Amino acid sequence: MRSQRPAQALRRGLLALAATAALLPSAFAQSPIVIKFSHVVATDTPKGKAAEFFAKRAAELTKGKVKVEVYPNSQLYKDKEEMEALQLGSVQMLAPSLSKFAPLGVKEFEAFDLPFIFDDYNDLHAVTQGPVGAKLLKKLESRGITGLAYWDNGFKVMSANKPLKAVEDYKGVKMRIQSSKVLDAQMRAVGALPQVLAFSETYQALQTGVVDGTENPPSNLYTQKMHEVQKHLSITNHGYLGYAVVVNKKFWDGLPADVRAALNKAMAESTKVANDVAFQDNQDALAKVKAAGKTTIYQPTLGERFLLKKAMFPVHKQMSSRIGEETINEIYKVTNFDPTKM
Ligand code: LMR
Repeated sequence: MRSQRPAQALRRGLLALAATAALLPSAFAQSPIVIKFSHVVATDTPKGKAAEFFAKRAAELTKGKVKVEVYPNSQLYKDKEEMEALQLGSVQMLAPSLSKFAPLGVKEFEAFDLPFIFDDYNDLHAVTQGPVGAKLLKKLESRGITGLAYWDNGFKVMSANKPLKAVEDYKGVKMRIQSSKVLDAQMRAVGALPQVLAFSETYQALQTGVVDGTENPPSNLYTQKMHEVQKHLSITNHGYLGYAVVVNKKFWDGLPADVRAALNKAMAESTKVANDVAFQDNQDALAKVKAAGKTTIYQPTLGERFLLKKAMFPVHKQMSSRIGEETINEIYKVTNFDPTKM
């Protein structure tokens, strides 16, 4: 029966393989599944708090099948590196600011950086909680990234070591910005000299005079102690800073369906936490900056704010071919903004 030997050998081989496979845990059979969630801000910020809440709810709703490890304050990665780490699968979850997605090639996200595009959170939510926001998140998939939610932070203030009241005051001031061409154009529109720096490098750059000033929502400014090295702050509310919570697509698609459903629920609850605390946190941070007594806080007059808007508004047109006119027009539409009235 020599002819049966190869068949027997093959069968024996297959059985051995099956036995080994049964012993090998599938990628997610080991417990718990670990999600490394890296971010660059302090724990005591809207993003930091929402990330902690997500970790807690993810554990509860998956009954311990998932463990979310949150790494705040650029502990693991700085801005640029964290995006790379996500794509490589070294971390599974991030919540970068919307200004940081264009370097991936998804330039439409820079629409969120356009100065004075949103009057308030209502305008913003009309975008982030509607079809325009969903469409933008979908664009990340071709980069191996799945967008799960938008989390609020808030409207930005300008700070520097000199008062920034009139448009002319910005002339020649070196301003740290995030890696966004729209923010670059916005600063140039008022004669400032923008410089891209990682968030984690900003405090030191301000302290050593590498840059003179920056823009951020008060919660970021205060929790990074930037007010200790900035003598002046103007409540310009000229632009918005918020986040997209993103996961590595391959990791996410590979999760068991029940785990993914539980995580989606945890994410929906965390989004509510982020958005509920954002406004108040920024108000509180401003009050704390004031109480610290190192920074003069200036509230621009309506006239000064109007002139700032007038100076910065041409950036919408200037950047429209980069961002995509379609995206900008969709945002104008849902926020009932008429650019011809500018
Ligand atoms: C910044 O770099 O200023 C912000 O994007 C930091 C953050 O994540 O809020």
